[in-house]
Formats: sequence, structure tokens, C-alpha cells
Amino acid sequence: MDAAITIRRILKVNHAGEYGAIRIYGAQIAVARYLYPAVVATLSEIRGHEIEHCRLFRAAMPARGARPCRVMSFWSLGGFVLGFVTALLGERMIWICTEAVESAVHHHLEDQLAFLQGSDPELKALISSIQEEELSHLHEAQERRGAAGAVQKSAVIVIGAVTDLLIWLSTWGDSTRMVREMRSR
Ligand SMILES: [Fe+2]
Ligand SMILES: [Fe+2]
Repeated sequence: MDAAITIRRILKVNHAGEYGAIRIYGAQIAVARYLYPAVVATLSEIRGHEIEHCRLFRAAMPARGARPCRVMSFWSLGGFVLGFVTALLGERMIWICTEAVESAVHHHLEDQLAFLQGSDPELKALISSIQEEELSHLHEAQERRGAAGAVQKSAVIVIGAVTDLLIWLSTWGDSTRMVREMRSR
């Protein structure tokens, strides 16, 4: 399989994912303004990073012949609903949602970095720097959510699965093919 095809898929998935993240944080901020104003500043800062990541992935597309996902509206709605519902469930759920999403993102990026090692060093460097920021989001969430009980732990698993499902659906299964291609190398 041509590495260029996988690289285009990586960009498409990542760009859509960042867009979804912007919407998750946007919905959480909208709820937090009313219910938990103390966390708005941190969420806004994280959302600022996701906007920049989205822009960087979009900017990396033309040179690699990649195009954005055809169903961005799906990501937009999925992200918004996930952010909105978790925020309504409580301040702690905001951080549990963040932890679940960011850790799913982290694993996707790990796979991609391994793949890009020899095929696209420039994109690999970009993803590495973005991954550092995603990790800081993950750590922030883990610190703020406090000790996780059984309910929280299952919420992380469910939201992680929903995130993977969103990634899969929005790319019509591209993410599965991508992982398969990456593993077969
Ligand atoms: Fe991001
Ligand atoms: Fe993030």
C-alpha cells in the first residue's frame, strides 16, 4: 500500500478530530459559563490549542494532496453533543470526558508517529509537537478530575469508545484501514 494514501488518511482523521475537539470544548465552555465559571479560562486555553492544531493539519494538507473529511458536520454535531452532555453531568464529568478523548487521541498519534518515522519526517515533527500539547491536556484533566471511582472509570471507557466510533464513522472506516496499513509495514 502506498504510504502517501496513509498519510492523506492521517491528515484527514487528525483534522476532523481537532475540529471535533474544538466543538467539545466549545460546548463545555458554553455550559461552564453558567454552571462552573471557574473552569472557563482553562477550557478556553485548551480550545485555543485545538484551533491551532486544526489549522496546522489543514495547512499540511495541500502539499500532500489530502482533503478534509467530507462529513465535517457530523464531527461538529458529535463533538458538540459529547461536550454538552458531559458538561451537564457535572464539572468532574468535563475532566473525565477530556481525559477519555485526549487519551484516545494520544494513542492514535502514537500509531501515526511510528508509521511516519521513515515516510514523512516533517509531518512526524508536527504531530510530535501537537502530541506534547495533547498530553498536557490529558494531564490537566487527570489532575482535576480527582480520584476516579468505578463510575468515572467506566465513563472514561465509554467516552473513549464513542471517540473511536466517531473517528471511524466520520472517515467511513478509513481509520481502521489506516491502522491496518500501519501495522502491516
Ligand atoms: Fe488537538
Ligand atoms: Fe487536546
